[in-house]
Amino acid sequence: MAILTIRHYPDPVLQQVAQQIPEIDETIKTLAQNMVETMYAAPGVGLAAPQVGISQRLIVLDCSPKGESAQLIIAVNPEIVSREGEQFEEEGCLSVPEYYCPVHRAQRVSVRFLDLQGLTVEMEAEGFQAVAFQHEIDHLDDLLFVDRLSSLKKSMFRKKYIKIMQQQEQQL
Ligand code: NI
Repeated sequence: MAILTIRHYPDPVLQQVAQQIPEIDETIKTLAQNMVETMYAAPGVGLAAPQVGISQRLIVLDCSPKGESAQLIIAVNPEIVSREGEQFEEEGCLSVPEYYCPVHRAQRVSVRFLDLQGLTVEMEAEGFQAVAFQHEIDHLDDLLFVDRLSSLKKSMFRKKYIKIMQQQEQQL
């Protein structure tokens, strides 16, 4: 297993629609394992393949609270089948370092995906896990959480993010 390099906004791979995965072969299984390791090492609660430079429809997430046993989900070609309710909770993203902002999301979602055995899984998620599914699936559709902000907030984000990036460069 290997820890992969996480791409940061405005890397173009984050702004591409990811490809459907036609077959779950060893390459995909290895990628999934490496993404899991990269997510836990970050640490983060979710990761989508475009964030490690691979424009394919694969996400991993684990929203279990700290200290509780892992609830790892590996989802191939995930889709949101239905959504219900609203929530407005603060989000962050491993591809947008040090920036956090509340985003409007559905409170509950039904999702469908393939597991690594190629079996179809349908499940319901709510609250924080529903946010994670929506956030990660957005990555497959070229959207970052900051793309869901109002245009005013998005321009504020851009200014602040340029400063964050400049500070990081000075630290290197
Ligand atoms: Ni993200």
